[in-house]
Amino acid sequence: MNSVSIRNLHKSYHLGGRELQILKGLDLDIAAGETIAVTGPSGVGKSTLLHVIGTLDRPDQGTLAIGDVDVSALSDNELAEFRAAKIGFVFQFHHLLPEFTAIENLMLAGMISNTKNDHSARASVLLKKVGLADRMDHKPGELSGGEQQRVALARALQNQPPLILADEPTGNLDRNTAMELQELIFDLAAERKASFLIVTHDRQFAQRCDRVLMLKDGQLVETSAENMK
Ligand SMILES: Nc1ncnc2c1ncn2[C@@H]1O[C@H](COP(=O)(O)OP(=O)(O)OP(=O)(O)O)[C@@H](O)[C@H]1O
Ligand SMILES: [Mg+2]
Repeated sequence: MNSVSIRNLHKSYHLGGRELQILKGLDLDIAAGETIAVTGPSGVGKSTLLHVIGTLDRPDQGTLAIGDVDVSALSDNELAEFRAAKIGFVFQFHHLLPEFTAIENLMLAGMISNTKNDHSARASVLLKKVGLADRMDHKPGELSGGEQQRVALARALQNQPPLILADEPTGNLDRNTAMELQELIFDLAAERKASFLIVTHDRQFAQRCDRVLMLKDGQLVETSAENMK
C-alpha cells in the first residue's frame, strides 16, 4: 500500500482579484519507507504542496489519500486528529512554540496526538538523538538557529508518524549538523518504514534520497541530483 497517493491536485491562491495557479493537476505516489527530495525555484509552490499533502490546506480539486484514508472525506475535526497522529512536519521556519522549552515542544506534540506513549521519555530520547541532550530546557529563543531546526525535526518524529513532510530541514545548518540530521532521517526511513517528502536545495542530500522530483509548472517531474543547480 502506498503511504501517499495523489491524483490531479489543483491549488490556486486568490489575491486582489487575481488567480495564481500553483499546483496544476499534480500526481504523486509515495511508497512506505520511501524518501523523496523535492526541488524547484523559489515561489514555484513547494511549501504549498507540503501544506496540501499535510492537510493544513485543502486542494481546489483532486484526490489525496494517506495510507488507506481519503482525507478529502474527513471533517476539520477528524482531520486535525488524523494529522496529529499520522503526519510529522518540519516547517521551513520551524514554528516552535516560543513560550515552551525544547522538551515541552515535543511533549505537546505527543499530547495533542492523544496517543498513550510516555511523551516525556520519548521526547528526551529524540532530543538526545539530535544532539541536544544538554539543551532540553532551553526555550527556542535560547537556542541557535540550527538547534531550533533540530528540535523541529525531533518534534516531527515525536508521534512516530508514518509520513514526515520536511521543508528545507537542513537549510540553515552547517555541513556536519546537516549530515547528522540526514543520518537520522535515513535511519528512520529504513528502520520504521517512515516515508519522507523533503524539500531541499542540497544536492548531496537529494542524492541520498530514493527519488528526486522537481516542481515545475504546477506538476512534479522526475529529475536527478546531478540536474540540481
Ligand atoms: N496565502 C497565499 N496567498 C497568495 N499567494 C500565496 C500564498 N502563499 C503563497 N503564495 C504564493 O504562491 C507561490 C508559491 O509559494 P510557496 O511558498 O509554495 O513557494 P516555495 O516553492 O515554497 O518557495 P521558497 O523556495 O521560496 O520557499 C508564491 O509565488 C507565493 O507568493
Ligand atoms: Mg517554501
